[in-house]
Amino acid sequence: MKREKMEYKLKKALDADRYAHTLGVEQTAREMARIFGADEERASLAGLLHDCAKCMTLSQMVKAAKGIPLDPVMKESKALMHAVAGMCTAQEIYGVRDPEVLGAIRWHTTGRGEMTALEKIVYLADMIEPGRKMFDGLTQLREACMRDLDEAMHMALRMSLEQVRAQGKTLHPDTLAALKAYEPEIDETEPND
Ligand SMILES: [Fe+2]
Ligand SMILES: [Fe+2]
Repeated sequence: MKREKMEYKLKKALDADRYAHTLGVEQTAREMARIFGADEERASLAGLLHDCAKCMTLSQMVKAAKGIPLDPVMKESKALMHAVAGMCTAQEIYGVRDPEVLGAIRWHTTGRGEMTALEKIVYLADMIEPGRKMFDGLTQLREACMRDLDEAMHMALRMSLEQVRAQGKTLHPDTLAALKAYEPEIDETEPND
């Protein structure tokens, strides 16, 4: 599908704030790809489409993800489902066939163990795009994202862990796997239990 048509469709599928966020992620992902020697076109495409399912209802998301094994926790969570549904929608509706781009969409929310450079870039670009509301550590994270992909990933995953702990929740298993790439000894139950 031509880029123009893609943007047109996407704009209709998303609300104005989400579309603006999408363009921010697209540009940030492209910039990071340039810095780290990853494929800029793939980063741009994955950034553009990463939230393409974000404005669906939960049941639309589950429907869009048909054929993908979903656990019960996932099926109840729009936050988790929009990434899986996004991958499927990118494929079905936007005609994306590139497995690297699809993977970056699939893993942009939780991360996973053994992430590719493109997956890291989209995961991070999503957190630091210029329109993001300020949160603790964002400035430092932005700096790390322009300097060292793995340092930035470690920092971002640490932030997620602290945030989840502050809420009394546990880290998603895929996010824990992502963090274990940097801290093999980490035990998710550490301070709280
Ligand atoms: Fe998202
Ligand atoms: Fe996003």
